[in-house]
Amino acid sequence: MALFLLQFGGITFLFAMPRFREGQFGGKITVAASDFPEPNATPRVNNVGKFWLVHVNEGIGAIYTICTHLGCIYAWNEASRIFACPCHGSQFQLNGKWIAGPAPRDLDRFAFEVLDASGNVIAESPRGEFIKLPEGAASVRVNTGAKVLGQSNL
Ligand code: FES
Repeated sequence: MALFLLQFGGITFLFAMPRFREGQFGGKITVAASDFPEPNATPRVNNVGKFWLVHVNEGIGAIYTICTHLGCIYAWNEASRIFACPCHGSQFQLNGKWIAGPAPRDLDRFAFEVLDASGNVIAESPRGEFIKLPEGAASVRVNTGAKVLGQSNL
């Protein structure tokens, strides 16, 4: 009986452990607030977290780098200032809104928190919505385990 309880407790403990560690894709990844571009400037990619750091008029956001059609990695096209997927031609605005192509929805986003220099959360985006960087923002913690699907265009 004691052996059973020990095994059961060990398995329960393993299941209770977080599956992803901080700093890895699937977990929370922290970037400097200054890593975000100026409003409407060229987005910057975070390859570890697989998200674009985007700044539009509504504020900052973290957009998943995988196309919402069949999962290709799309790219920023500086000449036309859109995200363009090389696989089947889907196109998206800087804010992730679908423009054209077979993708069934806008680009997906990640939830994130804004922290001050002491590590206190001073703003949150639980649904991945764009939010303004508040005064005193030092870093942004993107939760790559909390993907929010883009809005359907069907
Ligand atoms: Fe991007 Fe098909 S995977 S358009």
